[in-house]
Amino acid sequence: MKKKTVFFCGDCGHESPKWHGRCPGCGAWNTMVEQEVATGPRSKQAAARKRPVSDPPVRLTDIGESREERLPTGIGELDRTLGGGIVAGAVVLVGGDPGIGKSTILLQMSDAIARSGEAVLYVSGEESAAQIRMRARRLGVESPLVSVFTETDVHRIIETASATPPGVLILDSIQTVFTSDITGSPGSVSQIRESAAALVRYAKESGVPVFIVGHVTKQGAIAGPRILEHMVDTVLYFEGDKRLPYRILRAVKNRFGSTDEIGVFEMTGLGLAEVTDPSSLFVAQDRDPVSGSAVIASIEGTRALMLEIQSLTGLTSYATPQRSSAGIDRKRLPLVLAVLERRAGLSLGNRDVFVNIAGGVRIEEPAADLGIALAVASSYWDVVIEPTTCVFGEIGLGGEVRTVALAGRRAQEASRLGYKRIVLPRSALSKAERPKGVELLEVGHVRQAIDELLSPRRRRRTGGSGHGGGAGRDGGTGRGGGADSGRDETDRQPDDGGELFADADVREVLP
Ligand code: TYD
Ligand code: MG
Repeated sequence: MKKKTVFFCGDCGHESPKWHGRCPGCGAWNTMVEQEVATGPRSKQAAARKRPVSDPPVRLTDIGESREERLPTGIGELDRTLGGGIVAGAVVLVGGDPGIGKSTILLQMSDAIARSGEAVLYVSGEESAAQIRMRARRLGVESPLVSVFTETDVHRIIETASATPPGVLILDSIQTVFTSDITGSPGSVSQIRESAAALVRYAKESGVPVFIVGHVTKQGAIAGPRILEHMVDTVLYFEGDKRLPYRILRAVKNRFGSTDEIGVFEMTGLGLAEVTDPSSLFVAQDRDPVSGSAVIASIEGTRALMLEIQSLTGLTSYATPQRSSAGIDRKRLPLVLAVLERRAGLSLGNRDVFVNIAGGVRIEEPAADLGIALAVASSYWDVVIEPTTCVFGEIGLGGEVRTVALAGRRAQEASRLGYKRIVLPRSALSKAERPKGVELLEVGHVRQAIDELLSPRRRRRTGGSGHGGGAGRDGGTGRGGGADSGRDETDRQPDDGGELFADADVREVLP
């Protein structure tokens, strides 16, 4: 067989006969990798596989509507993420860091499905059958309907599955399998692409749902071409801090349901347990009040989730101050900091700023803005925000606080969890939505929120920067406080540097 090499983009899978510094397909820099591909005549068998019998075109109106039948996974939180169970012939990609729990949840799912009477074929190229058996015993997976197959040749996997079609086929992981149609080692771009294509074809032709595990690169994308995400029907990501027990399963793409829903799990000694009421999970109830911490009421799917935003600011020892964030939208932090500088009188030009969400959770929604701003301001002036206060709201470039979606649900949930005070955008709640027994602090401007929660009086008392309240109220330029704050902060610096930088969370966000 004649061999030739081509170049693939590691991001989008674009194929090119020559190398490019910038991928002509997606424009990404330095992503082209050289790989060997086989040309020449394919084996007859392979050619036959490539050309499946297809149905002739049918009139749209003549197509019988199939009942949307879903197979429940038996795990409520997983069903919720999938949009209500597994659809026949669907291909689901499960991504996440190594050790986050992908194999665990799929094995637990296998058990639950087997209990409902469907056979499961669990194909593993990662672990030996004995290792899987050991884990299965720990998880209490004992059903004879679960079969384990340690095989890495995609065509042999498909042949086996075709011989006795299972209710669900699980492949752990796409990086370990290969197809003999092309050369290249397992895990290479072309192998991943072709293997996934073969599995998608199998799922569509047979109607057997297929779950594929995909490892994640350092950048957080599923290793291999991003087209993998386009080829499958559903992409689920497992996220969370591996050192903590909580895991969030998030649908980032779903042809059969919404992408907003998340599933929440806790890793226990007996596998993953569902957390059905996660709203207060990520905020330590008995934490000591510290400055730089603000609780936000965020919304994930249809559920409200209280999250703790932690921030630390301190005089920088570098020429350019560091800005580091974990868990929040990277572009949001500079925006919020700029607003704090220009509209609320903080001078952050010579300060490092770190922002982190406790618990390893990620949030994208702009409703977190106000929480980020208040956490940073709280750290800046070293004034504690009461732990019984919870905030939400989007911040505009003028410093105005804008209303956000589902404000009512956020407020209700905060009230249910015992928060005493909610800082929220003006007229975000209708009359009926206002929870009883909770102080509602409606703010129109970020400065107002800061003045209410971090009162100027207390700022001075705690040896704050000397901006005083005035800077905040009259226009918020705060420039006048600059010299003052410099002196003040230098005095306090050992304190800042010593005690606060010893915090474990800080080490985590440092590069
Ligand atoms: P695993 O499912 O193997 O992760 P992945 O397939 O995503 O790489 O999860 C392994 C981790 O989970 C490992 O660190 C041990 C932990 N774990 C438990 O804490 N309890 C359990 O019952 C199991 C099976 C695993
Ligand atoms: Mg695994």
